[in-house]
Amino acid sequence: MASITIRNLDSEVKDLLRQLAAENGCSMEEQARAMIRAAVEGRAGQAGRIDQIEEKLRALTGSKEQATPVVAASGKPVPRGSLSGKRILLIIGGGIAAYKALDLIRRLRERGASVRVVMTSAAQEFVTTLSVGALSADHVFTELFDREDEHDVGHIRLSREADLLVVAPATADLMAKLANGHANDLASTVLLATDKKVLMAPAMNPKMWAHPATRRNRASLQKDGIAFVGPGKGEMAESNEAGEGRMAEPLEIVAAIEAMLDEKPKPLAGRRFIVTSGPTHEPIDPVRYIANRSSGKQGHAIAAALAKLGADVRLVSGPVNIPDPAGVATTHVETAAQMKEAVESLLPADVAIFVAAVADWRTTNAAGEKIKKVAGEGPPSLQMVENPDILAGIGHHAQRPGLVVGFAAETQDLIRNAEAKLKKKGADFIVANDVSHESGIGPSGVMGGDRNKVRIVSRSGVEEWPEMGKDEVAARLAALIAERLQTIVV
Ligand code: C5P
Repeated sequence: MASITIRNLDSEVKDLLRQLAAENGCSMEEQARAMIRAAVEGRAGQAGRIDQIEEKLRALTGSKEQATPVVAASGKPVPRGSLSGKRILLIIGGGIAAYKALDLIRRLRERGASVRVVMTSAAQEFVTTLSVGALSADHVFTELFDREDEHDVGHIRLSREADLLVVAPATADLMAKLANGHANDLASTVLLATDKKVLMAPAMNPKMWAHPATRRNRASLQKDGIAFVGPGKGEMAESNEAGEGRMAEPLEIVAAIEAMLDEKPKPLAGRRFIVTSGPTHEPIDPVRYIANRSSGKQGHAIAAALAKLGADVRLVSGPVNIPDPAGVATTHVETAAQMKEAVESLLPADVAIFVAAVADWRTTNAAGEKIKKVAGEGPPSLQMVENPDILAGIGHHAQRPGLVVGFAAETQDLIRNAEAKLKKKGADFIVANDVSHESGIGPSGVMGGDRNKVRIVSRSGVEEWPEMGKDEVAARLAALIAERLQTIVV
């Protein structure tokens, strides 16, 4: 959900908000959020005075259309108009994931975007120009030299007449071509000729994705400013193949597109953030490790929320089963020692947020071979040693970022423990969450679940936030940090 600076609202809106917030016993920001949610879901008319300011709030959140409820197959309302007037040039590469591009076209058009499509010849082996043309309601472009074609607009115009180029699926071949400047068909020529932003959604066999050549190409493309969404992990189309290489789902690609085309003010533009997320795995032997229940959902959501506000976010993630957040440069690590090294290599930064649930201990010497169960010998005894505290290290570092934020997941004495960590670790504030069963949060709890209830503990006191989705906690935290950065010099 968008963040709103109440200060920037005009006085008439502020007065109305203040009254409604007082009546409902919540903050003005919570009231504004509830109203925007209602407007987006088409419930606005139910609440008398909401109508009066709905128009202005919609303008603030960038939504240009009337909030008519549009319901997707899932039953959830579609945020119509989020891409209103945007022109997407979609390049479909040749892979089994090309079928998902059909759904992507539908989702983009549902949100008000116009979609023009270029298909490689390999893509046409997987989906037809007929179905793509029917969904995009436009001619489908396939040939570089097609002077006979009355629709031919040339590769320069194709890229010029778009706001964003999206390659989905981005095959290993398309990535290699652009990384090396090849232009021997329409898709690669358009990509090389464009002066617009490019988003790639890679999809390929995990071995191809892991190949050093593909990794090199990805790194060069990222250096050239190409954005990536996915790939995720999972089953491949080929039998018995699984791993990293599945194309991001259409809605994840839509979210990445929305983020890239978002023209709202970017209060964190030019600020560099380091965020840690997920658990760490501390090896016992090549097949066993010590871990914890952290899913990475909260840390990844925070990284995504900061990126939405324009921040340059470097995420260091332990092993998780969720995709890298869109628009965030992510480094994957396994152990606490690797996480520490990755974080230190990313200094200097303006802000560092330590969300990861770092394992407190590791074994002194992980066995090189699998430890065998030997009859009569009993279990092996593990020698443990404490892991470095990454947050404390950065909190007292010579290159300490101007703002350092820690998390504290506790099952008891939440506030006392958070206050102690604030001091010991040199943090500016600690986001404390109760991960006990008594927290009352859903059947899956905070760790692994989608909801969270946090308190912000700082030297100036404790601020309690209501229970909300992890995305919303992330958006509020990003807004809070943006506000703090306006008042401190970093
Ligand atoms: O594990 P603990 O409750 O002390 O974690 C509190 C904070 O410290 C969290 O922000 C966590 O990311 C960070 N931490 C860390 N390195 C550790 C342990 C914790 O950065 N080894």
